[in-house]
Amino acid sequence: MQLDNAPLPSIGILGGTGALGGGLAYRWAAAGLPVTIGSRNEERAAEAAARISSGIPTAHSLTGTGLIECAANADVVVVAVPWDAHRETLEQIRDAARGKVVIDVVNPLAFDKGGAYAPPVEEGSAAQQAQAVLPDSHVVAAFHHVSSVLLSDLTAETVDTDVMVLGDDAESTRKVQELVRLIPGMRGIYAGKLRTAGAVEGLTANLIAVNRRYKTHAGVGLTNVEAVAHAKA
Ligand SMILES: NC(=O)c1ccc[n+]([C@@H]2O[C@H](COP(=O)([O-])OP(=O)(O)OC[C@H]3O[C@@H](n4cnc5c(N)ncnc54)[C@H](OP(=O)(O)O)[C@@H]3O)[C@@H](O)[C@H]2O)c1
Repeated sequence: MQLDNAPLPSIGILGGTGALGGGLAYRWAAAGLPVTIGSRNEERAAEAAARISSGIPTAHSLTGTGLIECAANADVVVVAVPWDAHRETLEQIRDAARGKVVIDVVNPLAFDKGGAYAPPVEEGSAAQQAQAVLPDSHVVAAFHHVSSVLLSDLTAETVDTDVMVLGDDAESTRKVQELVRLIPGMRGIYAGKLRTAGAVEGLTANLIAVNRRYKTHAGVGLTNVEAVAHAKA
């Protein structure tokens, strides 16, 4: 399998021991991409890799390691850690992620009696914070509205949802759209520059309200968008 006529890139997922990162690791490894899970604890990373591997019936490559090694050895780095750990995690991989595409999935959210809401972020959004901390990487924001429950559901052959892909570098957003497309059922749709990522991250608070009210795992679907695979960014 190839990506845009190029060999499939290797993926390093920081926080791949967790819900969202683990789900992406499962889907991409099952699609044939070499995947490494990155953790603050190498043993935890190896355990997660073994656990996720056991659910994939076909030949694949899925391993676990520490955060810096994970970022250093990957072509594309995914940041899937809680908002509280966002900046400190990124600071650790600044050198390792230089020149690479960094996919940021992080939703800065807070919760109170009224439910989830988007708190103010100094840089405007998690994605903008990532780009500020990693000036020599190409940050792309994506996967904010994808349910980790659906991603990790081994009985679900497809994850039918759209993924809004945001970034300032056209080649990088196109590459991420292609990575989205490798997960059956998903479409990656270019949705703007990083300066607009705050609204996309914040929309997750509304999806959480939907999920609580209707007891489901809602995602987004964009109407009247066609031929997205190679759409210009
Ligand atoms: N869950 C979803 O459905 C979903 C959907 C879309 C986007 N997201 C976003 O994806 C990110 C990860 O969400 P998640 O639900 O997967 O989170 P999670 O399971 O709670 O955490 C993911 C991993 O982050 C690592 N981590 C690093 N620093 C941490 C800290 N200070 N405290 C706790 N964990 C830390 C942990 O790995 P180690 O301990 O192994 O280092 C943990 O396994 C979030 O920013 C969220 O907004 C989540």
